[in-house]
Amino acid sequence: MAEELRIKNGDKQEMYETLLPQIASLVGNETDLIANMANVAAALKQTFGFFWVGFYRVIDNQLVLAPFQGPIACTRIKYGKGVCGTAWKETRTIIVPDVDAFPGHIACSSASRSEIVVPVIWADKVIAVLDIDSDQPDSFDETDQIFLEKIVELLPHQ
Ligand code: SME
Repeated sequence: MAEELRIKNGDKQEMYETLLPQIASLVGNETDLIANMANVAAALKQTFGFFWVGFYRVIDNQLVLAPFQGPIACTRIKYGKGVCGTAWKETRTIIVPDVDAFPGHIACSSASRSEIVVPVIWADKVIAVLDIDSDQPDSFDETDQIFLEKIVELLPHQ
C-alpha cells in the first residue's frame, strides 16, 4: 500500500485517473468496510479539497452516518429524504448543482452549495451512499459521476 497519496495537479479527469489505481490498492487488501470507507473519504478530500466527503450506511432502514471528512453532519437520514435518501430510493447517482433548488435538501451545513450522492450497490441493493458537498455552486458533473461510481465499485464486498 502506498504510504502517501500522489496527487496530480491537472484537470479533474487526470486527477481522478491518478487517484483511481491508488484507491484500488488502498482498499484491495483490506476487507473491513468501515476502514475502506475511511480511506476513500480521506483520499477524495485530500485530492480535491471538497468541503465534506463521507458515507452513510443503510442500517435498519435508515441511512446512518459513517466515515467522513469535514465538519460534523446529520447522523440519520430517512428513506427517500434529502439528496442521500433520494439516491438510495432511486438507486442512482444524483447531482445537485444548487442545493437550494433541490426540494427536501437536508442542510447539514449552510456552507454547502452543490452536492453529488452516489449509491453503493451490492447484489442490486443499496448498502450505503457516498455523499460529497462543495461550498461552490455547480461543482459536480458527469466526470465526477463516472469516476465516483468506479470508486465505490472498488469497495470489497463482504
Ligand atoms: N445534504 C444531504 C445530507 C447529508 S450532508 O450534506 C452531509 C442530503 O440532503 O441528503
